[in-house]
Amino acid sequence: MKTTIAVFFGGRSTEHEISVISANQAMAAIPADKYDVIPVYITKDGHWFTGDALRDVRNFRDTRKLLEQCTEVYMRPVFGDYNIYRAKKKMFGSDIVATADLAIPVLHGSNGEDGIFEGVLETIGIPYAGCDTLASANGMDKITMKQILQSEGIPVVDYCWFTDKQWDSDRDKQIHNVESRLGYPVIVKPANLGSSVGIGRAANREELIERVEDAQRYSTRIIVEHMVEHLQEINCSVLGDCDEYITSVLEEPIKSGDFLTYEDKYMGGTKGTKGMQASEKRFPADLPDAETKRIQELAGETFRVLSCHGVSRVDMIVDRDDRAIYVNEINTIPGSLSFYLWEGSGIPFAELMERLVRLALKRKREASAKTVSYDQNIFSLGAFSGTKGSKGTK
Ligand SMILES: Nc1ncnc2c1ncn2[C@@H]1O[C@H](COP(=O)(O)OP(=O)(O)O)[C@@H](O)[C@H]1O
Ligand SMILES: [Mg+2]
Repeated sequence: MKTTIAVFFGGRSTEHEISVISANQAMAAIPADKYDVIPVYITKDGHWFTGDALRDVRNFRDTRKLLEQCTEVYMRPVFGDYNIYRAKKKMFGSDIVATADLAIPVLHGSNGEDGIFEGVLETIGIPYAGCDTLASANGMDKITMKQILQSEGIPVVDYCWFTDKQWDSDRDKQIHNVESRLGYPVIVKPANLGSSVGIGRAANREELIERVEDAQRYSTRIIVEHMVEHLQEINCSVLGDCDEYITSVLEEPIKSGDFLTYEDKYMGGTKGTKGMQASEKRFPADLPDAETKRIQELAGETFRVLSCHGVSRVDMIVDRDDRAIYVNEINTIPGSLSFYLWEGSGIPFAELMERLVRLALKRKREASAKTVSYDQNIFSLGAFSGTKGSKGTK
């Protein structure tokens, strides 16, 4: 019997399209002799669809036409029910379209990479690849992530943060904070997006205000960071779980301006349209051995202290002026699942997918061995005669 893998992608995220590309690459890499793949595409408004047509990225040029060839589906938030149900009930016969054994979320950004979708999978109890809700949420929020890394002694750039309401109610205080603690130039980011959306540089107070107002459109939490002006960006992928992991060769993405933009990342500067492989990078990155080793160590440590799982990519900033290395961010569901970094490290894409499956099953086995409830019904003990006595018992 083959294992059936449901691959989830798309989603309510600014990185919806990137996820479609990543998932199509991943589905093509899953060895067909061992696994059956069920694509589950989540539309931008949160509806789930399945169908073979979802396995060809070219069909996404016309999503209306594509969805006409697909079946709308859902899963029930019931522990142990791995069935995928037809949304529009049939007159006769079963409404079960398929039954999955395992899930691989290939969702980038909000509602996918941030733990929200992982919570759905946890509720169902299906084994799944990648970070759990806690690690995903911690990794997604640029503020929380930096706080954790900092407390574990992992170097991050200096930063300040505030909520949109704090900014609106006492803007001068926040500006003073930024100016006294960081000085200009700074980088302003919404805390929980990806793909450089809403990110900008500010060289003075006027620009800071403009940038924060822009970032506020995307998030309630804003982070302002010291800008490393002469930076070299280096990425490293990590694969495994927090007890046992390996790190990949390094890549150096190339930017066309001040910082890596959406266009740099996915379109090869502003010209190409070929998707992620087209983005410009130096690979493997050309660095002295000692720096390579240090970056791999920091990437592994980041993965470990955030309790990550599966495949992540840790992005570093190296200051060209003094060669200081900072962890910039972790992507817990990286673009293209970082397969090219693993290929460069001697692990083919198919093997990467198999390792993700094995890791998912291992975590499920380990979770099943933990006690989640006491096999004792306190109500049967006669301890409670009503609800009055239970005040403050938790
Ligand atoms: N502190 C910083 N100093 C200089 N450049 C930065 C800094 N932080 C981010 N950048 C630039 O902005 C880009 C996007 O920022 P990042 O934090 O990686 O957000 P995203 O999650 O959108 O990828 C980075 O790839 C880098 O080019
Ligand atoms: Mg980034």
